[in-house]
Amino acid sequence: MHKPTSVAPVSILSHNDHNISYDKFEKTLDTLKSKIGMPFFASDNFILYNTDAEKFLDSLNNINFELDITITSPPYNIGKEYEEIIDNNDYVNWCKGWMSGIHSATSQNGAFWLNLGYFDVVNKGKCVPISYLLWDKSDFYLQQEVVWMYEAGVTAKKRFAPRNEKWLFYVKNPLEYTFNLDSIRDPNVKYPNQKKNGKFRCNPLGKNPGDVWNFPKVTTGTNRSSKERTEHPAQFPLKVIERIILACSNTDEIVFDPFAGSCSTGIASAGLNRLFIGTEINIDYCKLAVDRFKKFKDEKSKYTQQSSLLHLIDGE
Ligand SMILES: C[S@@+](CC[C@H](N)C(=O)[O-])C[C@H]1O[C@@H](n2cnc3c(N)ncnc32)[C@H](O)[C@@H]1O
Repeated sequence: MHKPTSVAPVSILSHNDHNISYDKFEKTLDTLKSKIGMPFFASDNFILYNTDAEKFLDSLNNINFELDITITSPPYNIGKEYEEIIDNNDYVNWCKGWMSGIHSATSQNGAFWLNLGYFDVVNKGKCVPISYLLWDKSDFYLQQEVVWMYEAGVTAKKRFAPRNEKWLFYVKNPLEYTFNLDSIRDPNVKYPNQKKNGKFRCNPLGKNPGDVWNFPKVTTGTNRSSKERTEHPAQFPLKVIERIILACSNTDEIVFDPFAGSCSTGIASAGLNRLFIGTEINIDYCKLAVDRFKKFKDEKSKYTQQSSLLHLIDGE
């Protein structure tokens, strides 16, 4: 049994929640309730439906409801506890269906971030990146692929141990989309004081983090379990989602995750003052995600209280 000691990284716990528009949350919730039905849970910029992703997307498209960004990781068709393995062609067709639903529901300047692993393709390949099969199967414009590398992974004796997954960064309109580079610059610069013609060569906020990201996976196991670990078997690390949200969305915008799982996307979104909508088909994962969100809110308010106390003491 995992015993997480902290539910989220400090950068998300300490993100200030001034200027949240509760009005937008209430209005969005009212629209969804009246047109689609009651969510499994809704509070403080976090709305979760216990339903099938494609069915929910059909309903959104029927009412012309707009999403600003979708960040998700679907089942990979590899036999995890939440999926049944199907023929790879059927899998690709299934993905086409929900990706088309996401494209229709996305706002004109919106984005889609798709996380994918790898699987076997019979008589063709062993660790075939799923992105090779899916990258052009929606109407989104592919901006780029980001490689997410991590230290832990499966072991291998007759090939290199796979230690990366892909993120496909898509936009609806390649001429106009959100990219807040200054919010996600990497301060780890080798020669920060180097100048050319009297001016610093590097932005004082840091460098562009590039397209290979090193974030540890959420791990399991005695003495090595990640602090944010839940019982969900395929949880995203919050730090990855934080970077995507800060770069590709703005405060108060709507972030969607159709395969919400333990709601990592939801926790990071609500923690960074975006409005989260998620769908998850498995009710046990929905319960687990709501518990996780409540713990996160408790931890965040403790963090805020402690910080204001420290400010008071510093000010004396
Ligand atoms: C790869 S996991 C996502 C994990 C998530 N990113 C997290 O951080 O916890 C995929 C999730 O999709 C859910 N799922 C599978 N089919 C679904 C469907 N048709 N509609 C909604 N959710 C589905 C599974 O139950 C599983 O929790």
